[in-house]
Amino acid sequence: MIKIIVLILPIMVAIAAPSPYDQGKKLYFSKGCNGCHGVSASGTNIYPSLAYRRKAFLTYRLKQLRSKQGNTQLAQMMIPFAMGLNDSQIDALTTFLSEYHENSKEKYSPDDSNTGDGSS
Ligand code: HEC
Repeated sequence: MIKIIVLILPIMVAIAAPSPYDQGKKLYFSKGCNGCHGVSASGTNIYPSLAYRRKAFLTYRLKQLRSKQGNTQLAQMMIPFAMGLNDSQIDALTTFLSEYHENSKEKYSPDDSNTGDGSS
């Protein structure tokens, strides 16, 4: 009985209080970021890579785009998605992206932003 509790407790704690990293990971997929930036956030030739980039930079860019700053066609594409994020969601997403450590077998090197994962 005690063994079962010991086994289940960490799972319950994890469900009750997901880390900002895990919250960000969830948001990344539920908000559809993966549709353009790729499942491993490595980007493609037109969509910038996001994984491993500085949290401060990502936060700055998301808030800039959220306030509709950016008059390029690419920025226009991104603005509606940035507008759907509140501050705590931006915080979680940028934690996930800057601390990115998914150990999925990546098809392409994440630092080669010219390849991406074939998501688009
Ligand atoms: C429809 C495609 C699309 C979706 C979906 C999308 N993005 Fe983007 N994103 C872009 C494009 C295009 C740019 C480049 C904008 C520019 O050049 O100004 C961009 C830029 C960014 C940047 C700035 C990166 C840089 O190098 O300047 C961040 C951060 C970002 N996106 C995060 C996200 C997050 C988080 C989500 C999910 C909430 C998301 N994006 C969803 C297309 C998309």
